[in-house]
Amino acid sequence: MSQVETFRRGHSSERCVPLHCMDNRPIGVFDSGLGGLTVLKEIMKLMPSESVVYFGDSGRAPYGTKSKDTVIKYTFQNIRFLLSQDIKMIVIACNTASACSYEQVKNSFEIPVVEVVQPGAVTVVRETRNKKVGVIGTPATINSSVYEKAINRLDGSIKIISKACPLFVPLVEEGWWDNDIAFRVAEEYLRPMKKEGIDTLVMGCTHYPLLQKTISRVMGEGVKLVSSALEAARAVRNLIREKGIERDGKLKPVYRYYTSDSVEKFESLGSIILDRKIDYIEKIDIEKY
Ligand code: DGL
Repeated sequence: MSQVETFRRGHSSERCVPLHCMDNRPIGVFDSGLGGLTVLKEIMKLMPSESVVYFGDSGRAPYGTKSKDTVIKYTFQNIRFLLSQDIKMIVIACNTASACSYEQVKNSFEIPVVEVVQPGAVTVVRETRNKKVGVIGTPATINSSVYEKAINRLDGSIKIISKACPLFVPLVEEGWWDNDIAFRVAEEYLRPMKKEGIDTLVMGCTHYPLLQKTISRVMGEGVKLVSSALEAARAVRNLIREKGIERDGKLKPVYRYYTSDSVEKFESLGSIILDRKIDYIEKIDIEKY
């Protein structure tokens, strides 16, 4: 039986088991490209039996330099595509899409929606000791002030230094995570924050955990890095448990990937990010949704 057949059987007949209501449908995850795979990787580790349908909108990336209206339009199209795959939950694995569109999206669908900003903000507030924190993200995320608002809503006394790092996403998509150029770019962006003496830095873009080594080399050991990807995956696990919609633990997970751009590029870099083979990938025309 092919992987896709296993997947279909998994979610059609076995969706609800008496006494404990399970949901064998996949989780739907999307990002502007490959960055959301950092969220998916954490989901795979934390919830090894959950199946996932992932959409990476590489054909229209980056989102971080686009207007809010454009990102909202893309977000709704991406979600409509994922809904066509019979998913049980939507994960916006992109800070930019979360920052620009979560308000519009959150009550628009019947299934739960998880975004990536709030979980990271909660962790920053918990981790900081000197109440000086840094936030880095795409221009759209930083201009929206979404992290400042979320952090200061939890603790108004925290001082926040924010910085848009537009060159980080192309570096990641190029696979330049840990070389001299990445280090120089990171140094240029992060030097002022270092001088301010922050003790916690939130990587407010799902691409950035791939630059973690480089960012950490620049900031030094004393600065705690918070990954919005890991925190978002924890939020997904909590919500799945709370709603009682776990997938049957006896079933093998199935992962399917869709992209709006080159399948080959997604596959070659994606399998490095995930550290596993990509078995099923298809290119789709997202403008149809
Ligand atoms: N991964 C996306 C985020 O978390 C941004 C990448 C982009 O600019 O498209 O913000």
